[in-house]
Amino acid sequence: MDFISLCFILSSLIFSFFLINYLLKFSSFGHVKLPLPPGTMGWPYIGETFQLYSQNPNTFFASKVKKYGSIFKTHILGCRCVMISSPEAAKLVLVSKAHLFKPTFPASKERMLGKQAIFFHQGDYHTKLRKLVLRAFMPEAIKNIVSEVESLAVGSLESWEGKLITTFQEMKTYAFNVALLSILGKDEVLYREDLKRCYYNLEKGYNSMPINLPGTLFHKAMKARKELAQILAKILSLRRETKQNYNDLLGSFMGDAEGLTDEQIADNMIGVIFAARDTTASVLTWILKYLAENPSVLQAVTEEQEAIIKDKEKCGEEKSLNWADTKKMPITTRVIQETLRVASILSFTFREAVEDVEFNGYLIPKGWKVLPLFRNIHHSPDNFTEPEKFDPSRFEVAPKPNTFMPFGNGTHSCPGNELAKLEILVLVHHITTKYRWSMMGPQNGIQYGPFALPQNGLPIRLSLRT
Ligand code: HEM
Repeated sequence: MDFISLCFILSSLIFSFFLINYLLKFSSFGHVKLPLPPGTMGWPYIGETFQLYSQNPNTFFASKVKKYGSIFKTHILGCRCVMISSPEAAKLVLVSKAHLFKPTFPASKERMLGKQAIFFHQGDYHTKLRKLVLRAFMPEAIKNIVSEVESLAVGSLESWEGKLITTFQEMKTYAFNVALLSILGKDEVLYREDLKRCYYNLEKGYNSMPINLPGTLFHKAMKARKELAQILAKILSLRRETKQNYNDLLGSFMGDAEGLTDEQIADNMIGVIFAARDTTASVLTWILKYLAENPSVLQAVTEEQEAIIKDKEKCGEEKSLNWADTKKMPITTRVIQETLRVASILSFTFREAVEDVEFNGYLIPKGWKVLPLFRNIHHSPDNFTEPEKFDPSRFEVAPKPNTFMPFGNGTHSCPGNELAKLEILVLVHHITTKYRWSMMGPQNGIQYGPFALPQNGLPIRLSLRT
């Protein structure tokens, strides 16, 4: 081979190398192949799981946001993730491009709660379920259960009187009873204890290793789930015999013309209890903590609630609360909003990209998990001044769009938010007007299980107001 041929071959090779490199930079659509968001992926398989769980998860998120900005990549629990903490990005994932990001949960959780439950779905089946769930939880429907919710609140408070209680545990029972009331109406008392026993066994195995062998917590939880479904099937067949119309969630499911199967109904009833109980109980626990720590706010709430009682007496109205009364509680409502913001009990949610998605000049590859970080949005000084301060008066002015999402946003946002607010208002009305509580033990720690909670579930002693 002469020198000229050699030079020709070499220059062809060099040219081909640069050409391939150049082509690799372009996707099949002729666009420049976008870079992944900044960030680190940690060790193979383990990724950065240890860094996340060895400290307060919010410290992990905050340090990443500081280093890389509002969108960054990481690798947690074997999943490649993109975390986002800007209001615009959260809106894109949850609302405007929601069809590109599907809900995602570990398979063991789906098995335990029931594969047909609303949170695991997208598309027509999800739309249909959502319509039925919203029908049972919209203001028009829950207006009629205010006095029953009130009886549950009063009963709970009376049973705690003079005792040292773990606030979260007791609030879980209250929230469970309200959830059952909204699902089964007045029938709930008949099945309350059996359903509670099964649900508590299910809960014990929820965060356990998914090993379905006799003796394991997971196995016991799966057994409890089966029993729950059997009780619900019994209720279903009794209702079919009586042929009455019911305004509760089960009535809404059974009244669907296209018909849901018994399995779909059971999965969604269990799913709603799951979505309704610990969330509402955590918020109530934080409210008691913040009120105890902020005496002037407690005073303002108490005065607002006492004014409602006095007004009702003046007008000769019945003592029990009604829906209109709950609309005359602006200060208490702001306390709930501020608690939802500061406590941000759901620090984030999960989605999965169903195809490659371009966002802000970055590529979010198909199959990657995407986590909108609610807590970071709620705690950013760009969105809320002095974000760590508990100051309900900040909600006298509406927050900037997409900066306040305690109930999520878009197609999967919380259909139970009106019921949650109602049961919180009713309990706060009775606790502030009749009782006082003191916190026992250290008050500064936060535990995540998975919802953010005051340390040890906030032990308190409740006594009648003098
Ligand atoms: C203060 C209490 C509550 C909070 C903070 C809360 C928060 C949320 C959030 C953030 C989501 C959206 C999750 C996501 O996008 O991935 C959600 C969904 C949901 N919530 Fe709530 N929730 C509360 C109470 C309730 C109650 C009382 C019920 C029912 C009675 C309920 C039923 C549901 C259901 C069924 C979904 C799934 C909706 C769907 O996938 O379309 N929640 N909740």
